[in-house]
Order: sequence, then C-alpha cells, then structure tokens
Amino acid sequence: MKGLFITFEGPDGSGKTTIATRVVEELKKRGFEVVHTREPGGIDIAEQIRNVILDPKNTRMDGKTEALLYAASRRQHLVERVYPALNNGQIVICERFLDSSLAYQGYGRQLGFDEILSINAFAIDGTYPDKTIYLAIDEEKGLERIKDRSFKDRLDKESIDFHHRVSEGYQEVLRRFSDRICIIDASNDIETVTSDCLNVIMGLING
Ligand code: TMP
Repeated sequence: MKGLFITFEGPDGSGKTTIATRVVEELKKRGFEVVHTREPGGIDIAEQIRNVILDPKNTRMDGKTEALLYAASRRQHLVERVYPALNNGQIVICERFLDSSLAYQGYGRQLGFDEILSINAFAIDGTYPDKTIYLAIDEEKGLERIKDRSFKDRLDKESIDFHHRVSEGYQEVLRRFSDRICIIDASNDIETVTSDCLNVIMGLING
C-alpha cells in the first residue's frame, strides 16, 4: 500500500513545528503509522547540508549554490526517508518541501520561480505531496513570534524585504498549485489550527 505524503508550509513563525507535532501525536493516537520529518534535514546527510546552508558564518554563499544545496538535501531526504516510509504505507508529515524553495530561492533570492522548479524537478522525480497544508500568517507577525529565539540562522538574519518577497513567492505557489494546497489560518489558537489541519488530513484518508 502506498502511504500519504503531506507537507507543511508557511513563513517563518507560522507554527509549522508546533502544529505538525500536535497533528502527528493525534494521528498516532488514532492508530496511524506516522513519520514526522523536516527539510532541510531529517536524516544525517541532509542535516549536514542544512548546517552548511544555515551557518551564519557562510556569508559568501551564492544564491544558486544555496538553491542547489536545498535541492540536494531534498533528494537525499526523499531517498532515505520519504520513499521507504511511503512504500511501507506510512503517513509522512514533512515540514517544508519544494514550495519553500520556490518561495525563498525563487522569490526571496529572486532566482526565478521556473528556474527553481526546474532544478527541483531533477531532484524530486515527479514526487509531489498528496496534500500541502499552508499555514497562513502575515510575515511580519510570524517574525514577531520568533524574534526572541536565541539562535538566528543565516536566513533568519535576512532583511524584511527578503521576507516580503518570500511571502509574494508563496502567493504564486498558492496560485500555481491551488489543487494541491489547502490554506489554514495560522493566526488562530493552537488547538483550532491543529484541528483544522487534522480535518484536512482525515478528509484525505477517508477519501
Ligand atoms: P526552518 O527554520 O523551517 O527549519 O527552515 C530553515 C530555513 O530554510 C528557513 O528560513 C526556510 C529556509 N528554506 C529555504 O530557503 N528553502 C528551502 O527549500 C527550505 C526547505 C527551507
């Protein structure tokens, strides 16, 4: 049996980790086998690539290098973690995937939506998520939520203009992939957002 591939997307501070963790707990309680993972990272090689990408010391990193590293990490994560779980019939809940690259590198870094789509096409071999949950929040509110985090990675340190462009990028993602993506209002309280997400996933499971 083929599993279910679900990704969570949204700007920094939209609550992806908090909500995905709650959703996973609830799905497990209901008896489903679930793999909770994230990009970039999730497995050793991809975590190593993550450290290179996000190290604040790597100020010289070129935008295209960054985009290729995200795609490389994505490929390895698919092969080592996502494909085996899907082939075992499990539900994969992944924080961030292709759409993050389209928004952050395509728009944030201004490398072009279609250019980023094409380098990622090579990496993902046609593996699109069955459903993507987009946690919608104003990007400035999102940044406000995470402003007290002690560690700021290289992308957290980007300008507000960069984050505005990322947000525009996500709007383009929502237009292009409207069938795949479900928008959830992430400004609500955690219980409401969790239950909205669960409704989407249970709808998918129950067909
Ligand atoms: P995280 O903070 O959600 O773990 O993600 C790390 C950073 O990486 C975050 O600022 C978004 C960024 N990112 C990209 O720029 N492109 C990508 O393809 C992915 C997966 C993440």
